[in-house]
Amino acid sequence: MTERIISSEANEFEEQLELSLRPQRLSQYIGQQKVKDNLTIFIEAAKLRQESLDHCLLYGPPGLGKTTLASVIANEMDVNIRLTSGPAIERSGDLAAIVSSLQPGDVLFIDEIHRLPRAIEEVLYPAMEDFCLDIVVGKGPEARSIRLELPPFTLVGATTKAGSLSAPLRDRFGVLLRLDYYDEASLIEIVLRSSHLFNVDIERAAAREIARRSRGTPRIANRLLKRVRDYAQVIGDGSISYTLAKQALELLQVDPLGLDHIDRKLMISMIDGFRGGPVGLDTLAASIGEERVTIEDVYEPYLMQIGFIQRTPRGRVATKLAYDHFGYTYPEQP
Ligand SMILES: Nc1ncnc2c1ncn2[C@@H]1O[C@H](COP(=O)(O)OP(=O)(O)OP(=O)(O)O)[C@@H](O)[C@H]1O
Ligand SMILES: [Mg+2]
Repeated sequence: MTERIISSEANEFEEQLELSLRPQRLSQYIGQQKVKDNLTIFIEAAKLRQESLDHCLLYGPPGLGKTTLASVIANEMDVNIRLTSGPAIERSGDLAAIVSSLQPGDVLFIDEIHRLPRAIEEVLYPAMEDFCLDIVVGKGPEARSIRLELPPFTLVGATTKAGSLSAPLRDRFGVLLRLDYYDEASLIEIVLRSSHLFNVDIERAAAREIARRSRGTPRIANRLLKRVRDYAQVIGDGSISYTLAKQALELLQVDPLGLDHIDRKLMISMIDGFRGGPVGLDTLAASIGEERVTIEDVYEPYLMQIGFIQRTPRGRVATKLAYDHFGYTYPEQP
């Protein structure tokens, strides 16, 4: 798969950038108003009772700020955060080592929690419910289980696939928070805030052009901003005007809806090659030379979100919106 500038996944060079742009406090966390309203109350209540915050599950597409929100929660609770991920915990000993080193009230963040091995999930249940660990020591007839008391802590789990989480695990979270794609106004604020942190002057209209192409995703907004900033430094005087932003974004081949050449290839194949569908995923994948799962997980969700593709029992269908966007005449129904 080619590297896409509008991919919502982080690439390997982005970590530093993301760290420097990450909001520290709820008041700096832009958008997601419902999530913030709820969290504010839960955090306030936990603090009043001098208890640890209930376990929280954050779910939603990549790049919407789950990891960021987890560290914001820890900051607001005035506690430390330990970061790990489902695939990183291979043995129950790994988990035991982590949870037993926590201070009272600390946040344990488990990213991609749907990828936690099932055996480890079961060790996690009593840890979440009763703040204790049942560990088996010894082997064979000598084996016995010992119970280890843990300090109260807050598990914050993050997943892009809430559906793949086992029911018993999901049920042990007291707080479920769903992150949605950001609206344009929020993305504009994010671009303006990041520009400020970069020390770059930007026109609001320029921020809007970047926001509109960001597929509702802060990570993409920040990445586009970074590329436009490069362009501004080399071609202009470093500040980002509306005209300069438009030029730069055209050069990056990201269209006004944030679609790139692969989205375009996919849609035009559906419209031109299959008369708008219905067409099966496998057929479509073969026709543009991509993997079926890549289309399903990477390209299709956003195209469905903006109403360009519909799923039907007989396959995928291109909508009139898509025809209009790519300049094709929508075939009138006979
Ligand atoms: N609400 C927000 N306000 C401002 N910036 C944000 C917000 N949410 C995310 N960001 C920015 O977007 C970047 C990506 O966010 P983050 O890494 O938290 O996403 P994620 O949901 O954890 O992604 P993944 O699913 O890939 O782990 C961060 O560097 C942060 O700067
Ligand atoms: Mg993350």
